[in-house]
Order: sequence, then structure tokens, then C-alpha cells
Amino acid sequence: MYSLKIWELVFILIGSFLLLLPNESLSSPLSSSDPSSYTNFLEKRYAEHHEFYEYHEFHDSNEYHEKSYNIKITKGPYAPDGFKRDVYLVNGQFPGPPIECNKGDVLVINVENHLNEDTTIHSHGIFQRGTPWYDGVPGQTQGGIPPHKKFSYKFKVDQSGTYWYHSHSRAQYTEGLLGPLIVHDPNDPYLHEYDEEIIVILQDWYHTDSKTLLATFLSPESEGNEPDPDNGLINGKNSYNCSWAPDGSKCNSNAPLAKFKLVYGKRYRFRIINTSAFATFIFSIDDHPLDVIEVEGMITKRHTVHRLPINIAQRYSVIVKADKPKKKYWMRSEMESACFAAPATNLNPLIKAIVEYEGCDNKNPSSTAWSDDVENCVDLNAKDLKPYKPQKVPKVDRKIEITINFKPDENNVTLGYINNSTYKIDIKNPTLYKVFDGVKKFDVDQNAFILEKDGEVIDIILKNEDAGEHPFHLVCVVNN
Ligand SMILES: *[C@@H]1O[C@H](CO)[C@@H](O)[C@H](O)[C@H]1NC(C)=O
Ligand SMILES: *[C@@H]1O[C@H](CO)[C@@H](O)[C@H](O)[C@H]1NC(C)=O
Ligand SMILES: *[C@@H]1O[C@H](CO)[C@@H](O)[C@H](O)[C@H]1NC(C)=O
Ligand SMILES: *[C@@H]1O[C@H](CO)[C@@H](O)[C@H](O)[C@H]1NC(C)=O
Ligand SMILES: *[C@@H]1O[C@H](CO)[C@@H](O)[C@H](O)[C@H]1NC(C)=O
Repeated sequence: MYSLKIWELVFILIGSFLLLLPNESLSSPLSSSDPSSYTNFLEKRYAEHHEFYEYHEFHDSNEYHEKSYNIKITKGPYAPDGFKRDVYLVNGQFPGPPIECNKGDVLVINVENHLNEDTTIHSHGIFQRGTPWYDGVPGQTQGGIPPHKKFSYKFKVDQSGTYWYHSHSRAQYTEGLLGPLIVHDPNDPYLHEYDEEIIVILQDWYHTDSKTLLATFLSPESEGNEPDPDNGLINGKNSYNCSWAPDGSKCNSNAPLAKFKLVYGKRYRFRIINTSAFATFIFSIDDHPLDVIEVEGMITKRHTVHRLPINIAQRYSVIVKADKPKKKYWMRSEMESACFAAPATNLNPLIKAIVEYEGCDNKNPSSTAWSDDVENCVDLNAKDLKPYKPQKVPKVDRKIEITINFKPDENNVTLGYINNSTYKIDIKNPTLYKVFDGVKKFDVDQNAFILEKDGEVIDIILKNEDAGEHPFHLVCVVNN
């Protein structure tokens, strides 16, 4: 419980759900499908879903530019760091290919689930205003997409910046079911201050499958301590010392590092996405300062740093000038193992990639790391990050205070709690369906906070009683 981790996020983040009860326009076209043609309840709900979604399609979609992606999800053997194991693949790739559109586009993501288990795709950071049913959170906004079924997400994107898509089912994303989601803004104030864009995906990496890790974490023996990662990846690559791997593993110690090629004189916008489950990284490129210009979709005034802490699910854009001698340099993503609950053994916390100038010689980088101190296990100081366009904080109508802690339940399994209530997923009857069915009062273990008035400004106060940091994200606001 010392740092932030999916092992808990799975349970608490989706556990905090703010509902704005819809007016009659959203009530119940869900209940009219023919249940006899389906044996599986999920499939039935899934079909109802589609009927509902079609009903709510964008009637005026010819006003918008539509951008479609087909995503085929499979599982197969792969060795991102030389250690071979089964991973999730998106269109055969690890991590998944980028999804890109412009601000104002309607984005369509057609998902084919070729797994033997259900899945979902959540577009992390996208507000889903008017389309909460496409948020991709099982138990909240939909049932899982059943095995060997298709599902389409379709929503208007009225924001810009660096996002990512990932499975929100169990811990599938920690095994590769993820990719970048980039929304370009033709009016981005920095558009003319860089020449090219480069996406950098940071990941922590486990050699054990997430079902096993999750089961271990949710046992009394773990005492609430998260499993330590075995490695970290940059754009799906790193090497690993195979003498640490269990006997009989298929492992190659010479797996290649990720390479980023720069042209001298050009300016690059690096979009850095931390898709980690547990480890926080400190990102840097030797000898190259980073000018922060975007934090999770918010364009900021330029702020120069040498070492950038990136917490789970955070995204930053930085501008880097390729104006140093034409050589190779280390890109570093240092896992803050000091924030781990238990000391990690057999882990090299320094994840590297190579930044090389076009035309440089073939010598390995000999660059040295920036020496600036960064405080352990905390974020960049928010005071240093100023929105590009100053914004006024609106007047608050209502405050919602929630206390977060972790404690053992009656079976000694450590769980996360919101105001002393631990969330129980109701996969067969997601919260949003209940809303459509007219439910106005939720069980305590649904952690649902109801907002009755449209347009109300809510101040959410999070009180963290745990020793570790915990990032929160607003999963979904239903509005009509
Ligand atoms: C790999 O790990 C073994 C055992 O800890 C160690 O002896 C060896 O030096 C390591 N190899 C490298 C290249 O770091
Ligand atoms: C990514 O997030 C994890 C979890 O908080 C964090 O430990 C890690 O340092 C972050 N990585 C980077 C590059 O900031
Ligand atoms: C959570 O508990 C606190 C303290 O008892 C209380 O003030 C607050 O209203 C509760 N929050 C909600 C959303 O019920
Ligand atoms: C839970 O753990 C405590 C402390 O280790 C122990 O005393 C107790 O018997 C355990 N309870 C159960 C139900 O396992
Ligand atoms: C949670 O329960 C504990 C023990 O009953 C109590 O002391 C505490 O005030 C409760 N917290 C909230 C936020 O309700």
C-alpha cells in the first residue's frame, strides 16, 4: 500500500462513481430485446446494449468527421524483454497501435474479442460527455464484451492531448492490453514549436500472469503488499538478466532496447504515457532538458525539467530540442523502487532506451544521467504547472468528502475502502443499467454518490488515510 497500483485501482477507482440521474430521455430502451435467443446473461445484456447504443447513435454524424479503428484482441506468446510468456496483443502488436484523431472528431473503436474471456476497452481520460455507455468500465457502464463477440465504441472527442486506451477488465492491461490514444488539436498553441511527435509508453512488467498475481494480492498472505514488477519496458522493450529467471524459462538476455532516432536541429514533442500498474518512474534523456507543455490533456505554460516523475496513468508532453552533439544518449525511466512496500530482488529498476542522432557513429551511449534531485515517490510540484490559458475555479454548490483507506476484511484480505465501504462489482447489472432501470437508491457497497441537479459544481475532497499515494480518476459522469 505504499505506492499506487492497479491491484487496488481495479477495486477502488471503479468504485467511485458519480451519477447524475438522467431525466426521462434516457429511460429504459434496455428491456425490450428477446432473451430467448440468448443463454448467457452477459450476451443478453450485451445485445441490449447494442440496441440501446444504436438508439443513441449520433443522428447528426454527418456534421462530424468520423475516424474508425478496428481492434482485434488476441493472446499469444511474446518476449518483450527476452522472457517469453503469454501476453495480450492488439492487432498482433504489443503494446497496441496508436489510435489518433482530431479534436471534434467522432471516434469509432470496433473491438473484436478473440479471447476466451470477456474484455472491455476504456479510453482513459476521455470525458464521454453524452456517451457514458461507451466508457468501457465493466460493472459500471457495461458488461464485459463476451468471448468471440464484437463491440463498437463511438463517441465525440471534444478535448485534445495525450491519452491511452486499455482493457478495464480485471488486470488485463498489465499484460499488454493497451495502446496510446492521441487527440490532435489543429489550434494547439504549441503546434509550430515542434517538428515531429514521438510517443513513449512506459510500463512496468511482470513475468507472472496477472490472474496469479491478483489472486496472491487478494490473499491474507500478501498482507496488502503488492507484487513487485520483474522489469520495466519502454515502448514494449527492454532487456533482462535471464540468470534471474526460473529454471526452464524461455529467456534471451540480449533482447534489444527501444530506439528513438532524432535529426539534428529538429524539435520533438515526446508524448510520455505511464501505463504502469505499480511502479512510478522518473523519466529523463541525458543532456536534453524537457519542456513540459501538456499534462493529461491540459496545455501548460512551458516548464523545463531534467527529470520528470510520472505516476501511474499519468501523461505528459515535453518538447525536446535535438541540438546536442550527434551521438547516442540514454533515455532513462527509473522505477522508484524506494516506494515499493517490499524490497524488490532481481529487479533492475533503471529501464533504458537509446536516443540516437541520425548520422552518429555506432558506439553505445556513454552519456551520464542528470543529477538533479527529485523527491522520492511524489509528483511534479503542481505549483510549477500553470495552465496555458488561466481558468477560473467555479463557485462550488456542493462538497463530497470521501475517505480512502485499506484494511483487512473478515478473511484477512486487505481491501480498499471508500468511507468504510468496499466496492462489490455487479458485472451482470452494471450501475448505468440500474440507472436506466430507474434505480435511485444504491446498495452501500456500490459506492454510488448521486448528483441530482444538472449543472451543479461539485467539490470532491479525497482524504487518503493510507501511507502510500493513490491516484484517482473520475470514471464516468452520466449526463443527459
Ligand atoms: C546477472 O545476474 C547474475 C546473478 O545475480 C550476476 O552474477 C550477473 O553478473 C548478472 N549479469 C549482468 C550482465 O548483469
Ligand atoms: C508510472 O506510474 C507508476 C505508478 O505510480 C510509478 O511508480 C512510475 O514511477 C511511473 N513511471 C514514470 C515514468 O513516471
Ligand atoms: C464520508 O464520511 C464522512 C465522515 O463520516 C462524511 O462527512 C461524508 O459525508 C461521507 N461521504 C459521503 C459521500 O457519504
Ligand atoms: C488474521 O490475522 C491475524 C493477525 O495475523 C490473526 O491473529 C487472525 O487469526 C487472522 N484471522 C483469520 C480469520 O485468518
Ligand atoms: C470508519 O469506521 C471507523 C471504525 O468504525 C470509524 O472510526 C471511522 O470514523 C469511519 N470512517 C468514516 C469515514 O466513516
